[in-house]
Amino acid sequence: MNFDQSLIQDYWHLLCHRNELPQPGDYLRFETCIGDVVVFHDGNDLVVFDNRCPHRGALIYAGTHGNQAATCLYHGWTHSHGRMIVPHPENYRSCDLREAKLATFTTDWCGDFLFFSVTPRQQLYDQLSETAEILENISFNIGARADINAYVYDCYWPLAIENALEPDHISLIHPQTLSKLELEGGENIYHGLNSVWRAPVGNARLRKQLASLQRFFTIDYGYEGYMSVYLFPFTMLSSTYGFSYSLQNFFPRDARQDTTTFSSRLLVAPVRNEQAASTLSSFFSSTAQVNRKVFEEDHDVCKRVPRSAWSTQPLKFSSTSEAKIQHFRQSCRSHIEATNTLHQLHP
Ligand code: FES
Ligand SMILES: [Fe+2]
Repeated sequence: MNFDQSLIQDYWHLLCHRNELPQPGDYLRFETCIGDVVVFHDGNDLVVFDNRCPHRGALIYAGTHGNQAATCLYHGWTHSHGRMIVPHPENYRSCDLREAKLATFTTDWCGDFLFFSVTPRQQLYDQLSETAEILENISFNIGARADINAYVYDCYWPLAIENALEPDHISLIHPQTLSKLELEGGENIYHGLNSVWRAPVGNARLRKQLASLQRFFTIDYGYEGYMSVYLFPFTMLSSTYGFSYSLQNFFPRDARQDTTTFSSRLLVAPVRNEQAASTLSSFFSSTAQVNRKVFEEDHDVCKRVPRSAWSTQPLKFSSTSEAKIQHFRQSCRSHIEATNTLHQLHP
């Protein structure tokens, strides 16, 4: 098993917010280097599985998201309400169809955020440490998903993560978008493998405008400024004032091609009433457009950094605002050491 695969297997990964999949058939699919990971609403529950049909292994979902029953197109086997429905069961008399089940992953919740893992080394809350409380608070202040933006990043995933972990590139790469906030230096907070960056908005006019939107929301949590939460290894959650959150996954997609499955969801806070909803609709759609542009800009620059530029070693030239990159690389080194130790104990 390689480095990327072992990270997927050993850690918990935030997949979605409960309110992203409210209807039976709602699904999200992520391509990863250990195969597809699909989360879907089966009529009772959110189910996370490997996208393979238990009959003869056909892939059930093909898109990145949408609404579609978990019916295999090949011979019509369907998972619904916690069980597999097999057409013409009389043709399978020699088999025990009770054993025909989706191959599900291990799941757990932090507030209304759903996580999955394969063979987690720790309990979810141990992995999250103090970040768990922040995530719970955020999750209870999210109403719905307003946008989804999913495509393949043409770079090796740690390069995309490191780009998201440092603000030094903002003025050059995002001059018309993120740079407008004129974010101040802010502070880094570390919780185990995870990190949080909080930075006040320096642009006084925008700060005033943002503060004036507060009255349209029913939220009891949110940092008054820009906050970016990094969850080791593949997830970022960022927000301005807690009015909306951009949930980003950067899953290793294919070890040979160095590509990354990128997904960003815009999750918006609950609004006070109908009137507030109509007032905010243009704010949310412009936030979605700005976020899309920011990620394109990030993707464009990440494409310019070859895989060979990355290693788990500390940066040789590290600015003060690249401290979270050093922390990330330290976490990668610790993971490799722990994996090697385990292999020595259980070859
Ligand atoms: S492979 Fe899915 S129903 Fe046969
Ligand atoms: Fe960026």
